[in-house]
Amino acid sequence: MCGIVGYIGPRSAVPIIVESLRRLEYRGYDSAGVAVLDEGACKVVKSVGKINNLAELLDQEPLEVKIGIGHTRWATHGRPSTRNAHPHTGNSGKLAVVHNGIIENYVELRERLTAAGANFTSDTDTEVIAHLLEEKLTNGAGGDMLEALRLASREMHGAYAVAVVSESCPDRLHVVRKESPLVLGLGQGEVYIASDITAVLPYTKTVMVLEDGDVGVLTVDGVSITGLDGRAIDRKVLEVEWDVGAAEKGGYDHYMIKEIHEIPDAIRHTMRGRVTPEGLLNITELNLSADEIRDLKRIYIVACGTSYYAGVVGKYLFERLLRIPTEVDVASEFRYRDPVFEPNSLMIVISQSGETADTLAALREAQRHNVKVLAIVNVIGSSMYRDADAVFPTLAGPEICVASTKAYVTQLVCEYLLAFHFARLRGQMADAEVNRLVAEMLAVPAKVQQILAQEDDYKTLAKNFLESQDFFFLGRGLDAAVSLEGALKLKEISYIHAESYAAGELKHGPLALMWDDVPVFVTATQTDLYEKTVSNIKEVKARRADVLALVRESNVDIAQHVDWVIKVPDADNLVMPFLTIIPPYLLTYWLSFALDREIDQPRNLAKSVTVE
Ligand code: G6P
Repeated sequence: MCGIVGYIGPRSAVPIIVESLRRLEYRGYDSAGVAVLDEGACKVVKSVGKINNLAELLDQEPLEVKIGIGHTRWATHGRPSTRNAHPHTGNSGKLAVVHNGIIENYVELRERLTAAGANFTSDTDTEVIAHLLEEKLTNGAGGDMLEALRLASREMHGAYAVAVVSESCPDRLHVVRKESPLVLGLGQGEVYIASDITAVLPYTKTVMVLEDGDVGVLTVDGVSITGLDGRAIDRKVLEVEWDVGAAEKGGYDHYMIKEIHEIPDAIRHTMRGRVTPEGLLNITELNLSADEIRDLKRIYIVACGTSYYAGVVGKYLFERLLRIPTEVDVASEFRYRDPVFEPNSLMIVISQSGETADTLAALREAQRHNVKVLAIVNVIGSSMYRDADAVFPTLAGPEICVASTKAYVTQLVCEYLLAFHFARLRGQMADAEVNRLVAEMLAVPAKVQQILAQEDDYKTLAKNFLESQDFFFLGRGLDAAVSLEGALKLKEISYIHAESYAAGELKHGPLALMWDDVPVFVTATQTDLYEKTVSNIKEVKARRADVLALVRESNVDIAQHVDWVIKVPDADNLVMPFLTIIPPYLLTYWLSFALDREIDQPRNLAKSVTVE
């Protein structure tokens, strides 16, 4: 995700800003830039690609300055390009802003500001902040940047951490935060700004973490924080003990567990801008016409690995809600099975990297047959993002652990939002039903947090499986779809052989492998299929296998049949996958941890598979 840094103090600002940006590289980015005040004049330098490109530009014309801000951008609105890189300026070029987050109402603001004379030069949501600040400075704030920031914040919806440098106040930096992280590093007569603690650690271990609605003024004399209403706020100053490695992982031992903990926010981000603050579905970004959606006769979902398993959930969803026959294929098979492409079809490719060779080949194959392709990707500007006919990005932020977790969950979010949007357009779901299911989804992040709060139970549970050689996963309906991903995660990280079966298939093979102490992870949350799944549990138990059952919180009768019970909060059957995937993720992590596996980089596996 984007990274923000800044510095004001007695030292040379540019090397500090560049070094701080390097510290944020692990978050992922596609362009970078800085803005400084050079003898009072605002100067912006930016470039696409690596920070080295930016550093080379800065070396060509060294700037000896004491105040500045910097940014690494992970594209969300507009492709990676120098034009779209931060910092952004307004018409005058006298102030520059860097931003992390999403301004949800930026289209509306952009239209209003353009009509009032703002000249936009990028495709980003961030640029509206620069123009808005310029407007407020002359109209309402009487030239006072602090007041301008407060006024602008009142008009901006969404999430943002913003830092501003301006010719109008050359001795100070300004920041404001809402829902996106922002920390200040406090040195002797100097202040650092950063999106996370990692960037300031080489300089100071004394930090202040800003909270929602905080507006900060930073000078060589220190920091003053006020609320949006102008009231003074006394934020705690902390001494951090982390080393840099721990800081990048947010204090966790591995990226995998950090990313599992980021799932609630990743879901929120992916819904933001597609669901209004009032909870109404509002998808305007798709490059598919209403007629194309109404005329759809067939959907092909094509992907690899975890993304493929997200596609399996999609098949259940699209067929159930849209009554459109939906095929789901692993891309390496799809491209060679000489698929039949029908008119009025849509291919949906799913990929966190947007670069997987087989998926990309399937996309091209479909386009050769005049089938439109919609891409659900996490990396803006990736090959699939560029080449698909329509894109609907997941907004999970960069995922560093090779095994995908938060990206999978956000892929599901995208599928669900698309299914609701299509179903409404096709007259298959009334507004009230869409609103009800969107409300169910809005409640998901808090429910995931409830599961994560019981993490210690999984550490204990994992100890039962240290000697296990095989693991079976069973489920029916959406529980079966999610179990596939659970088994994949367990095998790739713990190296324990794991297989997932539709519970109804038990008698057609795996039952032969059920005997003493074989662990069987059964998910039974789909209420309409519950009784049938319990019958399967009994069959397994009769062969003396050990059953770990994942059920709803309201379930009272499962304990008598099984060895261990895991509960997740109740929700509509349809949204259960968002909750039922978390326990297998936590169990995998803590079991692999106990087995001392290379969790973030499992042997032989890669994050982005760009060869066949
Ligand atoms: C690799 C990664 C997986 C990922 C799969 C598909 O195997 O390790 O995490 O699910 O590729 O990648 P994609 O980028 O297309 O989702």
